[in-house]
Order: sequence, then C-alpha cells, then structure tokens
Amino acid sequence: MPSEIRVLGFAGSLRRASVNRGLLRVAAGQLPEGMNLDVFDLAPIPLYNGDVESQDGFPEPVVAFREAIRAADALLIVCPEYNYSIPGVLKNAIDWASRGADQPFAGKPVALMGAGGGLGSARSQYHLRQVCVYLDMHPLNKPEVMVPMSGQKFDKDGELTDESVRPKVAALLAALAGWTRQLRGDSRGE
Ligand SMILES: Cc1cc2nc3c(=O)[nH]c(=O)nc-3n(C[C@H](O)[C@H](O)[C@H](O)COP(=O)(O)O)c2cc1C
Repeated sequence: MPSEIRVLGFAGSLRRASVNRGLLRVAAGQLPEGMNLDVFDLAPIPLYNGDVESQDGFPEPVVAFREAIRAADALLIVCPEYNYSIPGVLKNAIDWASRGADQPFAGKPVALMGAGGGLGSARSQYHLRQVCVYLDMHPLNKPEVMVPMSGQKFDKDGELTDESVRPKVAALLAALAGWTRQLRGDSRGE
C-alpha cells in the first residue's frame, strides 16, 4: 500500500473555459494510487502590495493559499504562457505566498505542466522552473507536459478532446508520486 500524497494544484488562468484549468481537471482523473488532489482557485488573491503586507499583513485569500501550500506534500502548477513567460495571475500569487523566512514553498516537490500555442507553454514553464529554484522547491525534471496548439485539443468549455494528452498527465503524476516519496525517504520512491 503506497503512502498517501496530498497534492495542491493551481492554474495560472482565471478564464472559465481555460484550457489550463481543463488540464487540471484532467489531472484529477489520472491520480495514481495513494495520491489525492486539492485545487486552489487563485481568483480571490489581490495584487501584491508591499504597503498592504507591512500595514495589514497577508490578506485572507493569501493566508488560505499559504496554508494550503504548507499542508500539501507536493504541488502541481499549471502554467499558461503569456508573452513568452509566466502569466501575472500566477506570478502574483506565488509572490504573495513567497514572503517571509517561513515561506511555504521551501522543500516542496513540484510538477509543472501547461497548455499554450506553438510550444505548449515551454518558455513560461522554464521561467517558472527558475522561480522554483529561488524558492527552494524541488521541481520534477521529467516528464515534461507541454500541450501545444491547445485550441485544437480542448473544446469551447475547456474540456479535453484530444485523448493523446491524458496519458502524458498520468505519467507526470506517477513521476511526481515517485519523486515525492523519494524526497521524503520512502524506500525506492515507491
Ligand atoms: C496576454 C496574452 C499573451 C499570450 N502570449 C502567449 C505566448 O507567449 N505563447 C503562447 O503559446 N500563447 C500565448 N497566449 C495564448 C495563450 O496561450 C492562450 O490564450 C491560452 O488559451 C491561455 O490559457 P487559458 O486557456 O488557460 O486561459 C497569450 C495570451 C494572452 C492573453
């Protein structure tokens, strides 16, 4: 019986029919044994403002986000690509959560995936990997899940229509399970 892994997933798009949020729903259906997934909606997180932080502390949605990250054994970040980089919605949420010496990202195993245009969010994912390094996370190297031409692979409601994507998400989650167990010292990552 494999040990339990609680994954927190969040996607860097607020669109109702977002293909990246669709990818997160695909993940929910591909979890390996012992893994469960909670999804955090980034919509309530306000824009980062250092004055708010120093005068009032973290806004309530940021507190909730930080606690959810802290409670998770691993993270699954779904990253669209805007202008070759990380969308502001996602970067802003990470920036809020990253504040302070007790920032909750440190030591977390993390898997990245994303859907976009020609390169399937590759450029933004590599920028996000750089952020993961600074925050002392443990990003999973492979497999990479970059879904190109997403407009042809999801329908108008953001539901997956191209069945070639589902096994790639399943492989990513299986690798994340092994990586998480390896990092926490379970025998052979199983
Ligand atoms: C401001 C903006 C910039 C974008 N820049 C890129 C880009 O650099 N590379 C890319 O592949 N797609 C880019 N796109 C297209 C998005 O990948 C596409 O709209 C995608 O569906 C957004 O993800 P979502 O469906 O999860 O909201 C951009 C979209 C917007 C709104």
